[in-house]
Amino acid sequence: MGTNFPQSHHLQNTPFSLPRKQFLTYILYALLPLALFHYLLFNPLAAPKPPLLAREAAPSQHGHAPVNALEEQLPPPPPGRGGEVLALGETQGGDVSASGSASPACDYSDGEWVPDGRPPLYDGTSCGTIKDGQNCMAHGRPDTGYLHWRWRPRRCHLPAFSPEAFLRWLRNRHLAFVGDSMARNQGESLLCLLASRSRPDLVYRDGEENKFRRWVFREYNATVSIFWSPLLVRVVEKAEQDGVRHNNVFLDSFDERWMSQLGAVDAAVLSVGHWFLIPGVYHDGGRVVGCHDCADLNLTETAFFGVFKEAVHRTLAEVARRHGADRKVVAVTTFSPAHFEGDWDKAGACSRRHPYREDEKELGYTENEMRKTVLEAVAAHAGDGPLRFAALDVTKLANLRPDGHPGPYMRSDPFAGGADARVQNDCVHWCMPGPIDTFNEILLQTVAG
Ligand SMILES: *[C@@H]1O[C@H](CO)[C@@H](O)[C@H](O)[C@H]1NC(C)=O
Ligand SMILES: *[C@@H]1O[C@H](CO)[C@@H](O)[C@H](O)[C@H]1NC(C)=O
Repeated sequence: MGTNFPQSHHLQNTPFSLPRKQFLTYILYALLPLALFHYLLFNPLAAPKPPLLAREAAPSQHGHAPVNALEEQLPPPPPGRGGEVLALGETQGGDVSASGSASPACDYSDGEWVPDGRPPLYDGTSCGTIKDGQNCMAHGRPDTGYLHWRWRPRRCHLPAFSPEAFLRWLRNRHLAFVGDSMARNQGESLLCLLASRSRPDLVYRDGEENKFRRWVFREYNATVSIFWSPLLVRVVEKAEQDGVRHNNVFLDSFDERWMSQLGAVDAAVLSVGHWFLIPGVYHDGGRVVGCHDCADLNLTETAFFGVFKEAVHRTLAEVARRHGADRKVVAVTTFSPAHFEGDWDKAGACSRRHPYREDEKELGYTENEMRKTVLEAVAAHAGDGPLRFAALDVTKLANLRPDGHPGPYMRSDPFAGGADARVQNDCVHWCMPGPIDTFNEILLQTVAG
């Protein structure tokens, strides 16, 4: 059942050099949110402090740089999803699925947000597992319009989330979320959605910031866990120096904190991306093969896209090697765009109160490349065996929701110091409830196939 790494995925052969303009685009993207990443990802409980880095340009200025001529073309969508999309909402709460019969695979990625009068399934207090920074309701976010949109795919129907249907599928199963804080955001969204019908018991917690947790829905013998693994492969998080932190990323070494647990898992959702934009030194085969955002280290700059691609491909190949004969679903969530507007050093924020229409907000170059990498990797590793890889292709729908981030409400009562107070904004993660609940609507249709 072994799956060898295709030669083309060897790092040495990956085209890393990029036209100057593209490179600039990446840097603009990478640096602006960087201070926030440092703040949110490394030091989430700390008191507000000034950004570590400040740059002049707006993050929305993604050029539409030509795709590198050496990039592979996007292969056709992964086979094997056709007919597997299950209409699970049929008997619950009027969630009538329009695709009750064996329908062709639905492309949930392409669509629009439409108004939806229904209340969310949970709120800021009904669920005990919302990370503080994403509990916008409890933190006093005054507007509620962002709660009343549903994603309507262009060519098919996405049933509303049915906790009953999900719990029926999850009975006697174990679902794991693996990745960075976006994985945690999505995992907590699912727990809250399910908690609207059945109470989860926290049965395990470990690690600073509860990076490893497990809950059981006893009524269903259903288990959900969250594993912290921000790059999927092994990383040694390095101490910050002069405002810059270089993680040491080992591309040939898997993160066994989750990889070794997969045997006990029936389905996994992998969600990574943003950490690849953070300064890193990349190791492979016992030597340094590149680095990102590391001019001070006197190493050659490497684009993080190639490294992201390596990490995702190698991880999926290893999962297939170890578990190719298992009946498992491994879903990979595509990149979730950030929505900072304005200069970072002038309190860049995400203050829009409505979704974008599709023609208002094109996908940026970075977001598109990150998304494409996941779709390609899933397609490349989707075999014929019982193990099933799937992409949770949320990049486009997330790109249209600048209104769904905590913004200043990552903290309680952010304007206590006056309406003009300069506050830290989170335009990366998602309010809960909020647009990230839609990721799990799609997950339900994906895993239950
Ligand atoms: C309970 O769920 C686990 C998966 O988390 C499964 O291995 C086990 O067999 C289930 N127990 C029963 C009695 O079905
Ligand atoms: C940087 O690297 C180059 C080539 O490896 C070397 O010649 C040079 O001395 C290095 N500079 C410093 C400051 O270490």
